[in-house]
Amino acid sequence: MSEFVKVIIEGKTYEFPVIIGTEGEKAFDISQLRKLTGYITHDPGFGSTGCCTSAITFMDGEKGILRYRGIPVDQLAEHSTFVETAYLLINGHLPNHEQLTNMRVLLNDSSMVHEDMKIFYQNFPRNTHPMGILSAMVNALKSFYPAYDNTEEEVTKMTLNLISKIRTMSAMSYRMSRGHMVIYPRPDYSYCANFLNMMFDNPVKPYKLDEDLVKALNVFWILHADHEQNCSTTAVRVVGSGKANLYAAISAGIAALWGPLHGGANQAVIEMLTNIQQSGYSIPQVIEKAKDKSDDFRLMGFGHRVYKTYDPRAKIMKKMCDAVLGKLKKKDPLLDTAKKLEEVALTDSYFIEKNLYPNVDFYSGIVLRAMGIPLNMFTVMFAIGRLPGWIAQWQEGVEDPNGKICRPRQIYTGAGLTNYVPLEER
Ligand code: CMC
Repeated sequence: MSEFVKVIIEGKTYEFPVIIGTEGEKAFDISQLRKLTGYITHDPGFGSTGCCTSAITFMDGEKGILRYRGIPVDQLAEHSTFVETAYLLINGHLPNHEQLTNMRVLLNDSSMVHEDMKIFYQNFPRNTHPMGILSAMVNALKSFYPAYDNTEEEVTKMTLNLISKIRTMSAMSYRMSRGHMVIYPRPDYSYCANFLNMMFDNPVKPYKLDEDLVKALNVFWILHADHEQNCSTTAVRVVGSGKANLYAAISAGIAALWGPLHGGANQAVIEMLTNIQQSGYSIPQVIEKAKDKSDDFRLMGFGHRVYKTYDPRAKIMKKMCDAVLGKLKKKDPLLDTAKKLEEVALTDSYFIEKNLYPNVDFYSGIVLRAMGIPLNMFTVMFAIGRLPGWIAQWQEGVEDPNGKICRPRQIYTGAGLTNYVPLEER
């Protein structure tokens, strides 16, 4: 039997159908609200607004649960690879042996980047942030690898191009920003190994692959692979809803991810930890500063719109910091500072009452530093990981038979009717 929610507006009762998700989450469908009542809803930041139904990722922010296509992220982090997880997100099921081999072959076939694209890289000013370059170059893929419509064949081509080339293009932007030669992908290397090799190989000092680092990179990217309707994914879906091509939608997602409240937080955390060390602030002083409403400073890598408990990704990332540094026999003083910050914050009533816990970005930068990834590439690393999720979400959006162009309303609060005043009379 269908459920309804009764709403009384100006004395009149209206019934709105209830939608219930697989795990019992409930929404009431207000798509007819304006037509029936003349009212719209007002929800800045969309904290109480569901913009779609989705079968890709499930999150329970109270319990700290994250599952891709039903599979807990910790199981994927332990047993899967990034390529297999990408297949899962995009196709809705784990691949069999043949499907996985086929995907690897096709990714290898798509891994080169048109040589003319190098010209663009060469002409960005040296200090350009790699996220700006990546967003622009992903948009440019439409010109170099045209796709004419959204048939299954064209979407598969764009998907493979994106997943494979994003890694080549990201490594290229790093190397060219340093004036180093580009290292091409190798057919005998796995996805993650290839990325590390393209970043760090050198003709006079060949890069020695470390299987533990390759595994850590797989886990890092699996943990970032999707996170349902966050800021950048919403950007991807909104751009897709206007029927823009997949490359354009992903380019918009990259731009949205760049912000420090979103993916840019991984860079901001390391900058914050470094500043704490250099400034000589004590940990309690930093915590007080984060609580002070007259101060813009926030504890970066803490808090989340959905998680009101420890982010399950942060738990895995924290363990990975110790494992990777242990394996490399390295010490990172920033890890000690991060752990002390966490310890003090989690016993402070401000953080307890507001349910502020470490999120994925709090420890991820320590892992990236250990791998040798430079700070300005951190959010690019997030983007490479999030790509399969963006693609799956774009695809779900464009294939939705009830999908419409995203076009929110507003409540206008500006001037009433005002007559134009000619320039000479002002
Ligand atoms: N440090 C200090 N106070 C905080 C923090 C923080 N990191 N995060 C939230 N608060 C406070 C905030 O001031 C507000 O207090 P009050 O209710 O007194 O006004 C309350 O907690 C709720 O915060 P909010 O900003 O209304 O929450 P939100 O859901 O709109 O924002 C957030 C979520 C992630 C943007 C925010 O927690 C934040 O700015 N965190 C730091 C940046 C960060 O780490 N971002 C990465 C998010 S995880 C990766 C990703 O998927 O993007």
